[in-house]
Amino acid sequence: MNISILGYGNLGGSIANGLISFGDLNKLYITKKDVKTFSQNIEDKRCILTSNNLNAVSDSNIIFLTVQPKQFKELAEEIKGHINSDQIIISPITGISIKDLEDAFGNDKKIIRCMTNTAVAVKQAVTSICSNRTGKKSVEIVQNIFKKLGHTMIIEEKNMQAATVISASGIAFWMRLIRATAQGGVQLGFESKQALEMSLMTSLGAAKLLEENQSHPEDEIDKVTTPNGCTIEGLIEMEHQGLSSALIKGIEKSFSKINLMKKE
Ligand SMILES: NC(=O)c1ccc[n+]([C@@H]2O[C@H](COP(=O)([O-])OP(=O)(O)OC[C@H]3O[C@@H](n4cnc5c(N)ncnc54)[C@H](OP(=O)(O)O)[C@@H]3O)[C@@H](O)[C@H]2O)c1
Repeated sequence: MNISILGYGNLGGSIANGLISFGDLNKLYITKKDVKTFSQNIEDKRCILTSNNLNAVSDSNIIFLTVQPKQFKELAEEIKGHINSDQIIISPITGISIKDLEDAFGNDKKIIRCMTNTAVAVKQAVTSICSNRTGKKSVEIVQNIFKKLGHTMIIEEKNMQAATVISASGIAFWMRLIRATAQGGVQLGFESKQALEMSLMTSLGAAKLLEENQSHPEDEIDKVTTPNGCTIEGLIEMEHQGLSSALIKGIEKSFSKINLMKKE
């Protein structure tokens, strides 16, 4: 399978890193306009770093579009005449709808819209996927690629903006939570490195408990809160200070902003 990643930036680079260990990969074209600024020297012989989008597109079965929303129009103009109906186009571009993609490439093309996150580089992404009518039969192929890069979910297109906030921006939100608990550890006397290690491993353990036990967070909280104990004391203070409320308000703000960005 030949794959193109058009737009080697944060996300394109993460997807490339994930795909390099993909057994079915024959060639991986990675493009950006300014090849001098490729930040990474990819040694894998299957990778072709280039600024030539058209060469990449014409030799690929699957084409990822990983440019910024404002760069989409120019890229689409450049490649649209070179895409055939056997190829699969995958777009994680924020705010670019299936209709926008069909307007650019035609509704006879297999179009997949997805939202993933930068954890794709460590094969722990969550990727939400939807498609146009022509692309329906290709969803499984795309899902199988993203399953090798983490978890996948099929969602309705109307929820793509919400998925962007929870899973793509979500990486930043979780980083802040991990940073805050690590800073708390420093305040209690740990060296910064040790505090971060403890906070990080605790967050992984908490997620794993939910995943393996298929439980609700409150079930796991009940198990660690003895009556009148130190955990409930801390939790109640955090809620008095607005922890859950701040997180939900932040998520709502991100959602409003993403909807505004689409209109702009
Ligand atoms: N970062 C995330 O966590 C994340 C998560 C989910 C979705 N997304 C979406 O993914 C897209 C990319 O985000 P990003 O953060 O990776 O952006 P980015 O770091 O700015 O990367 C975009 C890259 O595209 C290249 N580019 C621009 N025009 C091009 C063209 N015509 N042909 C080839 N390459 C071109 C740019 O390099 P040159 O200037 O050298 O061409 C740049 O390196 C965005 O639409 C974003 O909404 C991002």
